Amino acid sequence: MFSCLLAMKPRCYLLILSLACFSNVVLCCPAICKCYPQRAEVVCNEVPLTEYPSQGLPETTTMLTIQFTNITLLTEQHLNATPSLTELHLYSNQLQNVSSHLLRGVPHLHTLDLTGNKLNELPAGVFSHAQLRNLVLKKNQIQKAEADWLPDNSNLTWLDVSGNRLTEVPASLLQKLSQLENLDLSNNKLEKIAANSLTILTRLERLNLQNNKLDTLDPSVFQSMPNLAYLFLTRNKLNKLPPNLFQMLSRLQYLSLEDNQLSHIPTGLLDPLVNLDEDGLDLTVNPFVCDEKMEYLWRWLLKNKKKVFLAGSITCAKPPSLAGRSVLSLTQSELNLHS
Ligand SMILES: *[C@@H]1O[C@H](CO)[C@@H](O)[C@H](O)[C@H]1NC(C)=O
Ligand SMILES: *[C@@H]1O[C@H](CO)[C@@H](O)[C@H](O)[C@H]1NC(C)=O
Ligand SMILES: *[C@@H]1O[C@H](CO)[C@@H](O)[C@H](O)[C@H]1NC(C)=O
Repeated sequence: MFSCLLAMKPRCYLLILSLACFSNVVLCCPAICKCYPQRAEVVCNEVPLTEYPSQGLPETTTMLTIQFTNITLLTEQHLNATPSLTELHLYSNQLQNVSSHLLRGVPHLHTLDLTGNKLNELPAGVFSHAQLRNLVLKKNQIQKAEADWLPDNSNLTWLDVSGNRLTEVPASLLQKLSQLENLDLSNNKLEKIAANSLTILTRLERLNLQNNKLDTLDPSVFQSMPNLAYLFLTRNKLNKLPPNLFQMLSRLQYLSLEDNQLSHIPTGLLDPLVNLDEDGLDLTVNPFVCDEKMEYLWRWLLKNKKKVFLAGSITCAKPPSLAGRSVLSLTQSELNLHS
């Protein structure tokens, strides 16, 4: 199926005529894939592949996309066929196994996307050897993230492990990611972010922890991220936040705390957030208790309405007499404040 003869159907004759084919390489392309020799790209989209098509790939390929196929295994030997690879996109296949030292033969690879496969465990050294900058492991079945996946001085700037089954992220893995700018851990089962485990991430601009099971956050977690601009904490179980949690986040533009279990906002919590965008803070769907301890949030909302998404929809859950009332609509006497 991948023989070059088959591949040299009319399309390839045309390529030969236009001298666009690679001159020093076998002139072929896996018959069921599309090859774009001028940009050294190969795309195998929704075709009946059950094995990685290394046989037919032009050696000079730099960009390879294999998506919606039934390949289950990816090895170092497979990738040796395309030593110039810089981007490998393997979206929505059936990958269950990848070999250790997977990237030894593709030292220029900077982007690896393994979204939507069936990966569960990854072997030691799996992402070593290449100068990876973007790694996407979204929507797999990974239960445990391991420090030995990555080399010590990793240059990753983008790591997406969202949509897996992680209950924790080892500090030893995060320790290797000093260049990281974007970290997506959303849609996992994280219960805890260990104190100081994120302190190396001083370049982080975007952190997504949405849809996990976090019930508290250690005061240390965001203290070393002066560049953080987007922070997503929606749909966790946060019931209490330390007053100085956001102390260092003066560049923050967007913060979502929607759909948690917050009953109060501690005095001073939001004061450091001087750069929030319009509608940049989401506090809706929290069971706020509208008693005298709400004074800080109430005053802050009155002053910063424009920065708050659906500010009028932030409501009291308690006491019963105020249940359902918009916090913004409360009066001093309803909050039992003595002026
Ligand atoms: C993958 O395998 C399934 C089940 O055998 C089949 O229905 C499907 O068509 C295959 N997909 C492709 C793209 O060949
Ligand atoms: C692939 O992984 C599965 C489970 O993740 C394992 O049972 C199987 O032995 C592995 N196969 C190979 C070829 O490594
Ligand atoms: C990261 O980049 C630095 C500087 O370019 C380089 O010395 C180092 O080897 C790179 N790390 C890896 C794991 O490739």
